[in-house]
Amino acid sequence: MANLTLKDILIKSSDFLKNKNIDTPRLDTELIISHFLNINRMDIYLQFERILTQSEQNLIRNAIVERGKRKPLQYIIGIVYFLDSKITVNETVLIPRPETEFMIDYILKNESKPTSVLDLCTGSGVIAISIKKKWNDTEVYASDISIDAINIAKQNAENNDTNISFINSNLFNKINRKYDLIISNPPYISETDYNNLSPELFFEPKSALVADDNGDFFYKQILQNAKKFLNPNGKLYLEIGANQAEMIQQTALNNNYNNIKIIKDLANLNRIAIIK
Ligand SMILES: C[S@@+](CC[C@H](N)C(=O)[O-])C[C@H]1O[C@@H](n2cnc3c(N)ncnc32)[C@H](O)[C@@H]1O
Repeated sequence: MANLTLKDILIKSSDFLKNKNIDTPRLDTELIISHFLNINRMDIYLQFERILTQSEQNLIRNAIVERGKRKPLQYIIGIVYFLDSKITVNETVLIPRPETEFMIDYILKNESKPTSVLDLCTGSGVIAISIKKKWNDTEVYASDISIDAINIAKQNAENNDTNISFINSNLFNKINRKYDLIISNPPYISETDYNNLSPELFFEPKSALVADDNGDFFYKQILQNAKKFLNPNGKLYLEIGANQAEMIQQTALNNNYNNIKIIKDLANLNRIAIIK
């Protein structure tokens, strides 16, 4: 095998990703190299003439090939940052999104400290972990139907020094108490929209993305049942798809909630429903 320098690898790899129609081939290559060599991106340029060992070349090559198959960078590297938490992800959990960060940031800035919170559909655990980090003496619970997700979320809670109670539950089935806040980012993509998504999305668990009833299933279930699990004056926060605000408002009214507020995100799209 040839003696390849960091510069050779950077150029070959980003050309390879460019040919595979990756949007940001150079950036993705730099992030893969810096992750697997455990250096920062600037160091790549400072170490241009460094000769890579065989095993370093193999690690980077395998990762670049995976990225060429459109595997999301976050799954290749296995780490994402969500607000101020470092979170481990793999293909059993959804990659946390900026829209969810926006919702949690909104909650942390606008709510006073609750005594108890349920993160329903927790996935990697990002919502529960962010809440517990800000409000350390709040009782935080997190639930998901996927045992694989619960296991990753537990690991993330531990890595972030947060004490969270996890429940493996189909929506509210195993929930047996009331909370001040219930926060949820449930699956909300319709089957039709799912079929038109970019290839990267197909690496994520379909059960974390797609909902029956044209994407509305989970909201309807949650709104029908949440009241029983909310303290008096308790609130429900839902992350919603941009086109679902009207359906949410109607469903909430049908279920006798009398205070419904929709918040837009930074792209001016309907993103959070706050329901009392
Ligand atoms: C959109 S992901 C959200 C993950 C995480 N809260 C986040 O915001 O990054 C939805 C999550 O709902 C879970 N889920 C799907 N169906 C469920 C059900 N019936 N009951 C509980 N959780 C469910 C999936 O396993 C997935 O982890």
